[in-house]
Amino acid sequence: MFKFSAIFLIFYLKTVIPADTSWCSTDTFVKEKCLCNTFTNENTNFPASMANCAGLSINKFPSFLDLPDDINVLDLSMNNIEILESSSESSSHTLKQLVLSYNIIKDISEDFFNGLPGLTWLDLSHNNLSSLYGSSDSNIFLQQKNLIYLDLSFNNFKQLPGGVFYPLAMLKSLDLSYNPLGEFLSQSKDILYRTLGTSLNLTRLSLNNLQLNDLHPDYFTSYQDLKELELQDNYFNYIPTVPYSVEFLDLSGNNISFIAARYLNYHSLKSLRLSRMPSLTSIHHYAFYNLQSLESLTITDCPNLKEFTELAFGLASKVMDIHPIKLNLARNSITTLNSTYVHMFRQMKQVDLRHNPWQCDCNILWLQEFGTELFKSREIRCASPKNLANKRVLDLTEADWTECYPHIYGKTSHKITIVVLMGAVIFLTGLIFYLIKYPKFWVSPQDLGINIGPNSPYSEAPQEDNRIG
Ligand SMILES: *[C@@H]1O[C@H](CO)[C@@H](O)[C@H](O)[C@H]1NC(C)=O
Ligand SMILES: *[C@@H]1O[C@H](CO)[C@@H](O)[C@H](O)[C@H]1NC(C)=O
Ligand SMILES: *[C@@H]1O[C@H](CO)[C@@H](O)[C@H](O)[C@H]1NC(C)=O
Ligand SMILES: *[C@@H]1O[C@H](CO)[C@@H](O)[C@H](O)[C@H]1NC(C)=O
Repeated sequence: MFKFSAIFLIFYLKTVIPADTSWCSTDTFVKEKCLCNTFTNENTNFPASMANCAGLSINKFPSFLDLPDDINVLDLSMNNIEILESSSESSSHTLKQLVLSYNIIKDISEDFFNGLPGLTWLDLSHNNLSSLYGSSDSNIFLQQKNLIYLDLSFNNFKQLPGGVFYPLAMLKSLDLSYNPLGEFLSQSKDILYRTLGTSLNLTRLSLNNLQLNDLHPDYFTSYQDLKELELQDNYFNYIPTVPYSVEFLDLSGNNISFIAARYLNYHSLKSLRLSRMPSLTSIHHYAFYNLQSLESLTITDCPNLKEFTELAFGLASKVMDIHPIKLNLARNSITTLNSTYVHMFRQMKQVDLRHNPWQCDCNILWLQEFGTELFKSREIRCASPKNLANKRVLDLTEADWTECYPHIYGKTSHKITIVVLMGAVIFLTGLIFYLIKYPKFWVSPQDLGINIGPNSPYSEAPQEDNRIG
C-alpha cells in the first residue's frame, strides 16, 4: 500500500563498507553501535549507504560532523530522542532519508533541518510533537526543497503554522493521521493549499483518525494529481467528495450507513476500501456501477451488512462494463449471494467470502463451482439451516442439498406424493392377494348364513315390486 516505502526503501545489499567512525559498525554483534551498510538503490542504481541505529537508547541526535559523509539513509527510530537541537557547527550533510519515528521528540529547533538540504524522506511519526513553530516565525522546513515524503502521523498536533509546507514544492506524500487536527483542518475549504501551502504535486495524502466529519465538496479540488487518499476512522456520515484523479480510497471506520452511486463517480478509482463500519447496513443498486477502473473492492467487518445486492455493480452479467479483480466481503453478516455473480467471479483473481453467516440453500449452490479460487475457502461456512450449521459450503455434497437436485432426489412435495402413492400401491397389492386367497367370502355369502332368496337385500336381481315409488 505504501508505494513510497517500496520505492525508497527497497535497497539491495551489495557490499559492506568498513567504517571507522566511532558510532558506526559493520558487525551486527557490536551492541550500542549503528549497523552501517552500503546498498545499491534499485531505482537509481547508485550506491547508497545506510546507518541503522534503531533501538539503541540514543537520546541525542548525533552531530553532523560525526555522521560518515557517505551515509544517505539514517534510521534512528525507537530511541529516546526528545529534542532536535540546532547543530552548533554551521555544517550540513547530504543525508537523503531520515527516520525518527518512535522517539519522544517534543521540540524541533527552527534551524535543525537547515543542515539537511538534500533530505527527500522524513519520518517523524510516533513522537510527542505538538507544534512546528520555531522560536521565531521562521519556517523549519525552509531548506527542504527536495522533500518528497513527510510523515507527521501519531503526534499531538492541534494545529500547524501557516505556510509550513510551502517550501516543500516537491512533496508528494503527506501523512497527518492520528493527530487532534480535525477542527483545524475543517475550518476552511482552502486550508491545505492556501493556509498550509501544501504542494499541488501531492499524490498521496493520509488523513486518518482526525475526527473529520464534514468537508466542503471543493476541499480537495486543487489536488488534481492526488492518487491515494486515506480518510479512515473519521466521523463521516457520507462518502465525501474526493478528486477525480484518486485511484486508491480508504474510508474504513467511518459512520457511513449506506453506499450509493451518487457518491461514487470516480473513473480512475482502482481500489476502494469500506471496512469496519457497524453503521453500514445497505449497498444500493448500481452503487459501484460508475467505477469503471475498479480493480479491488474491500468491504469487511461490517456486522450489520446483511445483504450484497445482485445489482451492486449493475447487472453482474457476462457483459459488464467494470471488471474488478479482487472482491473482499469477509466478516460481514451476508447470508446469500445471487448467482448472477458467477460470471464476475469466473474472471476474478481473488474473492474472499469468509466468516459470513451463509444460508446454505439452493441460492448459493453455484458457489460450489469455485474451489481454491475462493480465498481460504475452508472458512466459508453455513450458519443455517440448523442441520448444516458450521459445515463448509464447498464440502457439502448432493445429499446435504437434496432440495437442489430434484432430478436425483426429487422435491420434498414430490417425495411426499411418492410415499403416499407407494403406500396406496402396497395396500392395493395386499388387497388383491387377500381376495385371491379367500375368494369364497364374496362369491358364496350363504357360507355366512345369509339368505339370498328373491326377497333378500343381497339378491342379485332387484325385484320390481320392492322398489319404492
Ligand atoms: C508528551 O508531552 C506531554 C506534554 O506535552 C507530556 O505530558 C507527556 O508525558 C509526553 N509524553 C512522553 C511519552 O514523553
Ligand atoms: C511540482 O513539481 C515540480 C517538479 O517536479 C516543480 O517544478 C513544481 O514547482 C511543483 N509544482 C507545485 C505546484 O508545487
Ligand atoms: C452515525 O450515523 C447515524 C445514522 O446515520 C446517526 O444517527 C449517528 O448520530 C451518527 N453518529 C455519529 C457519531 O456521527
Ligand atoms: C438473482 O437476481 C436476478 C436478477 O436480478 C433475479 O431475477 C433473481 O430472482 C435473483 N435470485 C435470487 C435467488 O434472489
